[in-house]
Amino acid sequence: MTKASTQWVQVAALSDVPAGDAKAVKLVEGRSIALFNVDGRIYATDNQCPHMGYPLTRGAVHHGILTCDWHGRSFDLEGGGCFNYECDDLQTFPVEVRKNEIWIEVGDAQYKRRDEHLRLLWEGLLSEDRWTISKAIALLLKGKVPEEEIVQMILRHLGRRIASSEDADGGAEVSRLINGLKVGRHYQDADRLMVLATAACSVAGRSAERLEVVPLPGSVAWESIDRWTRMFSHDGQSGRIERCLFTAHHLNYQDKILPLLYHCAVEPHFVGFVDNLLALGYLAESVETFGWERSSEVVFNLGAKLVGRRRGEPERFRRDAVELMTSLVPKIETADPPPTADSDYDEDAFVSALLSVNIQKSFEAVSSALLSGVKLDRLITTLVLLAADRMARTPVNVDAGWGVLTTELNLAASLRTAQRHGGDDVAAKGLFQAAWQVFSDRWLNIPSRQLTASLQAGTLKVSNEDDGVAVILKSIASLNVQDVGRQVLEYLESGYSGDRLLHEMGRAMLWDDTNIQVLPTLRTVFDEWQLSSGSDPNLGAGHPARYQLLVGLARYATDIRTNKDSGSATNTAMRFAEGKTTVEAFEE
Ligand code: FES
Repeated sequence: MTKASTQWVQVAALSDVPAGDAKAVKLVEGRSIALFNVDGRIYATDNQCPHMGYPLTRGAVHHGILTCDWHGRSFDLEGGGCFNYECDDLQTFPVEVRKNEIWIEVGDAQYKRRDEHLRLLWEGLLSEDRWTISKAIALLLKGKVPEEEIVQMILRHLGRRIASSEDADGGAEVSRLINGLKVGRHYQDADRLMVLATAACSVAGRSAERLEVVPLPGSVAWESIDRWTRMFSHDGQSGRIERCLFTAHHLNYQDKILPLLYHCAVEPHFVGFVDNLLALGYLAESVETFGWERSSEVVFNLGAKLVGRRRGEPERFRRDAVELMTSLVPKIETADPPPTADSDYDEDAFVSALLSVNIQKSFEAVSSALLSGVKLDRLITTLVLLAADRMARTPVNVDAGWGVLTTELNLAASLRTAQRHGGDDVAAKGLFQAAWQVFSDRWLNIPSRQLTASLQAGTLKVSNEDDGVAVILKSIASLNVQDVGRQVLEYLESGYSGDRLLHEMGRAMLWDDTNIQVLPTLRTVFDEWQLSSGSDPNLGAGHPARYQLLVGLARYATDIRTNKDSGSATNTAMRFAEGKTTVEAFEE
């Protein structure tokens, strides 16, 4: 039992800690404190080793240095400073011996180590150490540091990393970070930490310093920046684009930067470079979430690399596609069609053209849908649901084509972001990119089906929703890809909650080793499921194929699943942040 006076707490009798010995005592709130009797003096420290939580009472003290018995991290016993990399300092407490009782000053319970833990996160990101990253994030979240601040640190690291590398392949990393953030918002506690740590680990790695890019001198007119950027994009000169973008930022033309990048990205010569639209979408979301100051490095560098890359000689089909799109686009840019009635849109005919394995038919279908005034939202929804339907039905016995099918889905969904930031013209041109992706996936052997036809499933043979969810989770865990799609469909046809099922399936996916791979698609399905749950048919409300979003996701994640848990670092980090030593955690 402890006695308290203001911040001072009586924690033990002097006789409890014999000379040269150590003893663990518990504070009322459960925190474990280590007491050491060294050379006739009592020292008190947190008993949880800041590295991985091993109890420090099991460590050794020599010459005033406390060394943990697990991995040998060592600390100044008096001040707590750590001598090792990737381990923060140890908390120590003032001690007084009053009438053979040991008292320690615990201080207030306020979290004050934000900067130390952000630095720890930075170290973990540089060294790609999952434990350090998970621990730092868990401690920061426990200290109520806003999630945005944590992600900003990760974003800063990512910006530096991408800027100091030569290639334009940072899009996947931005995707994981942004998608991790978006998916994480659907979860709490350990699930949320899992998503954040996964996203952070997937962007970790060495980064180098680089010279700052300085704006062009003088007051450069926006028209010049716009014209030069388009020209450099056409000629494949990314470095020059980056300087133009920094100049635009410096001259307060921020609002025009994303539309300009988008306009460059959807030029016909970029047909087939689908990561342009995907990555720009994630960069745009980074600006939406963190603002220009924090996102500018990554947006300018990666954006310039994407739209300023060299394209090489196109192969025959791509060359035809580029020429065709070049000839169709001017009419679309100048047309001003009246919005068409929903009933005038023949969605099945549109889909049939996309799947015709004939790029001319496919592109002409896109062009005529646009010219006849079908709403962009509606066409994007068709492409999203077509991709979901293909994921729901692709045969899994040989190569299911998950990589390209998820690209079809994520690309189609990213056209909504393109429309938001680049405008209707950009989204319209993006439709050709999406149509090209379907054409280039012509090797997939998926039987054709009318997208507007009913799915005609039975109902799941369970007595309630809980059992239905359990059946599906069991199929996912046992890699039963042959049945999981049907079960999801029957679950939904039974009238059970799709929101709940998606949430539960998402959690199962996040704790598997394949979580990094699944993140972008899981995020798309969360977004599109929500849009199609509303009342707007243009966004998929009431569409007969909307259930395929969940069916396709379930089949995809089940088929690629490894059943290797990647959550041990996360679970241990959660316990660590609660202040539990490893021994206590193991005892639970
Ligand atoms: S050095 Fe103490 S837990 Fe690793």
